[in-house]
This record gives sequence, C-alpha cells and structure tokens, in this order.
Amino acid sequence: MEKKIPIGVLASGSGSNLQSIIDHIEQGRLDADIRVVISNNPDAYAITRAQKHGIPFVIVRHQEFPDREAFDRQMAEILISCGVELVVMAGFMRVLSPLFLKTFPQRVINIHPALLPSFPGLHGQRQAFEYGVKFSGCTVHFADDGVDSGPIIIQAVVPVLETDTEDTLAERILREEHRIYPQAIQFYAEGRIEIHNRQVRIRGLKESASQVLHNPPLEGF
Ligand code: GRF
Repeated sequence: MEKKIPIGVLASGSGSNLQSIIDHIEQGRLDADIRVVISNNPDAYAITRAQKHGIPFVIVRHQEFPDREAFDRQMAEILISCGVELVVMAGFMRVLSPLFLKTFPQRVINIHPALLPSFPGLHGQRQAFEYGVKFSGCTVHFADDGVDSGPIIIQAVVPVLETDTEDTLAERILREEHRIYPQAIQFYAEGRIEIHNRQVRIRGLKESASQVLHNPPLEGF
C-alpha cells in the first residue's frame, strides 16, 4: 500500500466529485485520506456527504470575513492544522488569493468542466454547448492566480452529440470528472507528477494517448 496522501477538499455545492473521491478511497483504489472538508456554503450537499462518511468538516462563511485574504487565512489554518498536503477544490465557488496559493505552492488542484484553456469560468459546459464545439470535456489542473489557468494534469475528451442538450452534455462530462479527479490525486499520491514551466509530466505512464478522435466520424476519409 502506498503512503496515503492527506487531502483537504473545498466544496461549495453538490459534492459529487467529493463523493467520487470518497468512493475510490473506500474501494481501496485511491491512496488518500480526507482530513477535512471545508465549505463556504452551510447548505452544500457536500457537507451531508462528509457527515455520512464520518469525515470532519468545517463551514467557513466567506461573508463573515472582511476580505478574501482573511477568509483564505482561516481556511489555510484549518488545512494546516489537519496536516493537509494537497488541497482539492471540488466545485468550490471562490477564487483563492495569491496568499493562499503561496501557503500551498503547487499543492492546490481544481477540476473544470471543459477542455481548458477553452471555456474557463462559470458554466463551462454551457459555454461549450452554445459555442458549438464537437468535443468538450473536463480538466484537472493546478490552481494558480488566474481563473482555471494553471498547469494541466489530466483531461478527458467528451463528444458533443447531435442529440445533446446542455444538460445531457453536462452529465456525460460529470461522469468523466468522477474518473479523472481520483486518477489525478492518485498520480499525486504516488509522487509521479513533475511540473516544468506549464507542462505537467506523469512519470512511469504505461501507455501514451495515441488515439485521434473525430466527431462526426469520418466516412471513409
Ligand atoms: C463540477 O462540474 C466541477 O467541474 C466544477 O463544479 C462542479 C462541481 O460539481 N468545478 P460537484 O459539486 O462535485 O457535484
């Protein structure tokens, strides 16, 4: 068994990515230990999920702090006191300050429901659907000072089907989020992630991604 990486999860909403991480840990497929879940939203279903699995959680209401730094400082203190090594943003709806990121250099990751750098910000799925791309997907990346702009660890490509609505596309993307996030954390836990400038390399990959995708499919070309 690998060393279990102590993680802290930041979540503001439904927490389905948190659930996927919990499930993979419970199935013995992810060498991580969720030390704490922090939410800025007391009504987040993510909190209920943590409770159900006996995971410590803390609600930190951003409205109660004079500024972003003070809010972030409070979260950082909690994470440090819980021994967290890797901070996992899972539907966390606040942008982290440079101060927070300096406290956890290259130790904060995020998931975004689009193929970055396309469609950053809110509603990545809707932006992609309305733009009319033939493929979208999801991205796990390191957080940096920008919005959804840090070095990319892993992406899943999801086709946009002729019959899709924004909702069916979002569902298909979310299913892949639930796979790539645990994988990214496992790469981290195994100490296999290297960052060179913007480029992330994963040591010891067994296969390389060699498949070309077409959508719509080519008809004999
Ligand atoms: C996901 O689509 C994620 O990519 C985005 O916020 C959503 C969170 O969903 N950052 P959930 O709370 O994990 O269900």
